[in-house]
Amino acid sequence: MSFPTLRLRRLRATPTLRALVRETTLSPAQFIYPLFVVHGENVRREIPSMPGVFQQSIDQLARETDELAALGIPAVVLFGIPAHKDPVGVENFDPNGIVQQAARAIKQANPDILVITDVCLCEYTDHGHCGIIRDAEILNDETLDILGRVAVSHAAAGADVVAPSGMLDGMVGAIRAALDSAGHSGISILSYAVKYASGFYGPFRDAAQSAPAFGDRRTHQMDPANVREALREAQLDVDEGADMLMVKPALPYLDVIRRVHERFDLPLAAYNVSGEYSMIKAAAERGWLDERRTVLETLTGIRRAGADMILTYHAKDAARWLAEID
Ligand code: PBG
Repeated sequence: MSFPTLRLRRLRATPTLRALVRETTLSPAQFIYPLFVVHGENVRREIPSMPGVFQQSIDQLARETDELAALGIPAVVLFGIPAHKDPVGVENFDPNGIVQQAARAIKQANPDILVITDVCLCEYTDHGHCGIIRDAEILNDETLDILGRVAVSHAAAGADVVAPSGMLDGMVGAIRAALDSAGHSGISILSYAVKYASGFYGPFRDAAQSAPAFGDRRTHQMDPANVREALREAQLDVDEGADMLMVKPALPYLDVIRRVHERFDLPLAAYNVSGEYSMIKAAAERGWLDERRTVLETLTGIRRAGADMILTYHAKDAARWLAEID
């Protein structure tokens, strides 16, 4: 059958028909909202390059998670800004570190909110790198012990899921072993398995104050040109015991999301990163883009590519808009 008998426009005629034949669903239940947590009281400081996103102190988290729960957003991912930075980043595994305090506070206020913690060194080290450094080189294997300690301290504070983001070799296996030997065999690992060395992290590095003091992250994060290597990265993490995988960033890597989705049966997350957020916000502020349409289109595209869940700064706005549409 072909035109004029076949007319594909028929199924686009009304909102009801369009909804009935829609192939991809988008729901707040698939969103994970990133939170930047800082020391102090009554802090709610907007990040200049990320309008609508705030660094917040612990006392703000009950209200924040109440709002998420009301919007149907089930999970947060925590990023901490420590009081002091040093070469190792000791606050990272301090039982009273900022992320540990935040995890406890959220679990107390809203026990049903899933707490995912970012496990990496870069926010805590004075040099801003994702591992300990000697002669300007990251010491991969020596850093693994620290990542294990960080994950265990997050679990002890109430985290449900730990998310290692440093792209060091062996990080998932080391964290699994550390969690299991500390009695946290029920805590799952969401691995940033496929994380590219991306220019789209720029605003995040302001938000988390984590820009590297020298050099860059190209010796551990992936080359944007590679996709077969992404499958090897994901395989390595699966073999080391990852429970869920992540591809990051999302928009320039939709093909990577699709390939990882097709190859692996693990739940797959995509990180719609800071720069992707800020691009839309900046264009919308100038009136160049319709924010609501472009955000929902973006998130739908990420889902269509194969992501089961999306880490996104748009989560709260998108949840509100989805409630209006439904
Ligand atoms: C590393 C980490 C980064 C992001 C999440 N975890 C930054 C980096 O690798 O430099 C970026 C997230 C974003 O841009 O929204 N701890």
